[in-house]
Amino acid sequence: MQVDETARPSDLKIWRSAAVEILRKNDRGGYTVPTDHLYPFQWNWDSAFCAMGIATFDIDRAWAELESLYLGQWSNGLLPHIVFHDVVDSYYPGPEVWGANHSPQTSGISQPPVTATSARFILDRAKGDERSEARAAALYPKILALHDWWARERDPDGTGLVGVLHPWESGADNSPVWDGPLNGTPATQTVFNRRDVALVDATMRPRQWEYERYIYLVELYRSLGWDGPRMWAQTPFKVADVGLNAILMRDEHDLRFLATRFGTEAERRRLSARAAQRQKGLETLWDAKAGAYYSRDLVSGEPIPIASHAGFLPLWGGLDSPDRVARLAAELRRWLDLCQFGAPTMAPDSPEFDQRRYWRGPVWAIVNWMIGDGLARHGVDDLAQRLRDDTRRLMEQAGFCEYYDPLTGEGLGGGVFSWTAAVGLAWALA
Ligand code: GLC
Repeated sequence: MQVDETARPSDLKIWRSAAVEILRKNDRGGYTVPTDHLYPFQWNWDSAFCAMGIATFDIDRAWAELESLYLGQWSNGLLPHIVFHDVVDSYYPGPEVWGANHSPQTSGISQPPVTATSARFILDRAKGDERSEARAAALYPKILALHDWWARERDPDGTGLVGVLHPWESGADNSPVWDGPLNGTPATQTVFNRRDVALVDATMRPRQWEYERYIYLVELYRSLGWDGPRMWAQTPFKVADVGLNAILMRDEHDLRFLATRFGTEAERRRLSARAAQRQKGLETLWDAKAGAYYSRDLVSGEPIPIASHAGFLPLWGGLDSPDRVARLAAELRRWLDLCQFGAPTMAPDSPEFDQRRYWRGPVWAIVNWMIGDGLARHGVDDLAQRLRDDTRRLMEQAGFCEYYDPLTGEGLGGGVFSWTAAVGLAWALA
């Protein structure tokens, strides 16, 4: 079903105002929480997406979002996945569990890097405004330091592929892709009290089995003093996630754009060399027989032959192979034909598919945007439009939820979700 835009202009306006309202409500003064209660702090990639949505109505506030996020940056360049600006006890694990030495308090791992993409997006909309140029120029070295951190600490052997050391670092917390690597990860012995399942139906959240391993990894890294090389050497969980690597590639591309405005010649050269290396690295994750990108377990060295939404994200990162684009598009069409609303995070006919459980099946607006944008950049316009229409229909039927059931369209997880509203403003309802 396609939405007829011309017939419903006023509805679109109403939905856009509702999205603005959510972003205003979730504004805690210079930073946006993903949603009230369930996620009461500033999350890394959520904020980068929020800033793009906010830029559609308030450029100043959009810059403030990125600036407040970078208050959490460590001196080694790491941009943590959570910045705990305020003390709130509705979330576990809080700052005391992470034990990171930073003010404001933060977690100790990162998340998919989207801040260069976000800064470029805001800059585009600021249309040469001088204050925006100055704010982008001030952010540029910080984003560069983040990218240097990824290269140094998460790809110490210079392979062109970075590894995530925690499922949370991928942004797709309980993807079935992590099941194998988590099997080799011990469970924590600590008894802990999850707050998420008190707020959201447990069938929509990661299982206890996964949480025990999530916490084990946090405790292990804390015991290693958050020292990158020691973590890299000692962790049982180390994965070259195709999703994160693709997102990193796109962010690095956008960082190179920023470097042409605010950087030095040496930095531009360094970024160009790294882009070429990243492209090569990503291509090693392509399985020609399956026609799919798979993540790789860096502990065993083996590919993880499970196809998730992440396998389509190289479209967002940028592909130079028309054949791969065509094969990815064909597979995505197959997935979409199996559901009412795309794109599911797992193929509906795969054994791991679970239509309500977080990253094991449900549709996420940010994922649709990344895949849709990637398809449009590679000229697959009809499929890009189909994803955009599906996203809009979901928003109109269920509101701006955290994620959605691909078979029924039901809204799941946290309600009134910031990055979903932001994707509405920047893309689906634009
Ligand atoms: C969950 C998601 C993650 C997101 C966070 C806040 O942990 O898996 O991607 O950043 O919630 O919305």
